[in-house]
Amino acid sequence: MASDPHSATLDPPPSAAPLALFPLFADLRGRRVLVVGGGAVARRKLEPLLAAGARVVVGAPWLETSVAELVAAGAVEHLEGAFEPAWLDEAWLVVAATDDGAVNRAVADAAGERRIWANVVDDLELSSYQSPARIERGPLQIAISSGGGAPMLARHLREKLETELDDSLADLATLLLRERRRIRARHPRLAERRRFFDTLLNGPVAERFRAGDHDGARQAFEAALGETPPSRDIGSVALVGAGPGDPGLLTLRALRLLNQADVILHDRLVSAGVLALARRDAEFIEVGKQASNHHVTQDGIHALMLEHARAGRRVVRLKGGDPFVFGRGGEELEFLHAHGIGFEVVPGVTAALACAAYAGVPLTHRDHAQSVRFVTAHTRDSVDTLDWRALAEEKQTLAVYMGVAGLDRFRQKLLEHGRAAGTPFALVENGSRPEQRVVTGTLADLPGLARLHNVQSPSLLILGEVASLAHALHWFGNEPLGAPAPHVAHAA
Ligand SMILES: C[S@@+](CC[C@H](N)C(=O)[O-])C[C@H]1O[C@@H](n2cnc3c(N)ncnc32)[C@H](O)[C@@H]1O
Repeated sequence: MASDPHSATLDPPPSAAPLALFPLFADLRGRRVLVVGGGAVARRKLEPLLAAGARVVVGAPWLETSVAELVAAGAVEHLEGAFEPAWLDEAWLVVAATDDGAVNRAVADAAGERRIWANVVDDLELSSYQSPARIERGPLQIAISSGGGAPMLARHLREKLETELDDSLADLATLLLRERRRIRARHPRLAERRRFFDTLLNGPVAERFRAGDHDGARQAFEAALGETPPSRDIGSVALVGAGPGDPGLLTLRALRLLNQADVILHDRLVSAGVLALARRDAEFIEVGKQASNHHVTQDGIHALMLEHARAGRRVVRLKGGDPFVFGRGGEELEFLHAHGIGFEVVPGVTAALACAAYAGVPLTHRDHAQSVRFVTAHTRDSVDTLDWRALAEEKQTLAVYMGVAGLDRFRQKLLEHGRAAGTPFALVENGSRPEQRVVTGTLADLPGLARLHNVQSPSLLILGEVASLAHALHWFGNEPLGAPAPHVAHAA
């Protein structure tokens, strides 16, 4: 027997040399795995072992509460006391997770003598196997190793991949596992099977899973297998909210869809920073209705969505803010529905929420506002149909999506209906973007201050008592322009 137990298994190389590790996914179902140590580190190691169906035995003189609970529940067996090599009898794998270096070494040595793979937590030299950084989507697992040299790098990559890999991959992987025999029988030749998988992964099955439509995915799978006729048109459209401009406000789902899109139909308001995150070789079509070089009507946008979806492309209709807040998202979905095109909707951070947050103006506040209204006043018609009596009530916040041109009429209507001339406002131009500007003042001076500071579109008006906080709670970009508004006194 070799005196150094590692010589029988793996000679630890000098730490600067790269480790040539062999990746392996082990079937631990029903197999005994020993974890030495009963503290928090050991606890973290238990979960993946139990999830893999291992018969886990914890050896330790004491157990922290959550480990003791697993023992009490019968999920884990406990060997009480100090480590003895006999604990390794019948074990396939061992994890040493104690804070005592001598015990960890004794475990590694005893395991090496028995040719049992051992992982010593945070000790590359003593370990004969390492736990990778893992990403799980149901039966699909991705393991990342840096050869032990840079676990932070492996973790960083894992975080990146976590954001990019859709959760619905778990459903897809489960379906493929369950149906593997039928798929093999239908497509016995490897080349054919490859083509079939390509259509599954890039077509309606994956797309229906992403939309949370399990029945649709199942139907699309049966259709792809050639056993039932397709139930709907192949293409689909994702209506995605791009938020107000700061790419950091994009949702993970939006990011994933942008990475998978073949065609992106985007509004003028969508920021360059957001577009830069999309798949490079996607086709980008600007359909901003006020784009200077061309003008795409709403009917034109509908026609483009239909054309690309019917051609089987993954279409993302990308809208500023949220698609359902003053974004005509409803009309676009009605159109898609009428034409049998599948769709999904991804919400975005709407301008009111983003501008309020980035201007330090809470939309509601126990002392200042108990309600908030999202209002649009883009056109003369929309101004005339608003319920001005309700809008002029005090202790509420108005978040007004509008062209700055309508501010005179807006002030006049509110004053006519009794809103105090001293009501504070914060007018937020280019909210959440590096060029954000915030102009503050009171209702009496609203149009004059907007002109003085040459406020441009896109701008959002926050009017109400809460706007008096803009100076005190300012945190993003330049200081607000204009004097801090006095707190508005309310009648008792
Ligand atoms: C047609 S609406 C679209 C609203 C969008 N769907 C949303 O949820 O934010 C356009 C108006 O939104 C507001 N807006 C959008 N992005 C903005 C931003 N970054 N800063 C200020 N206002 C913004 C402006 O009032 C602009 O005139």
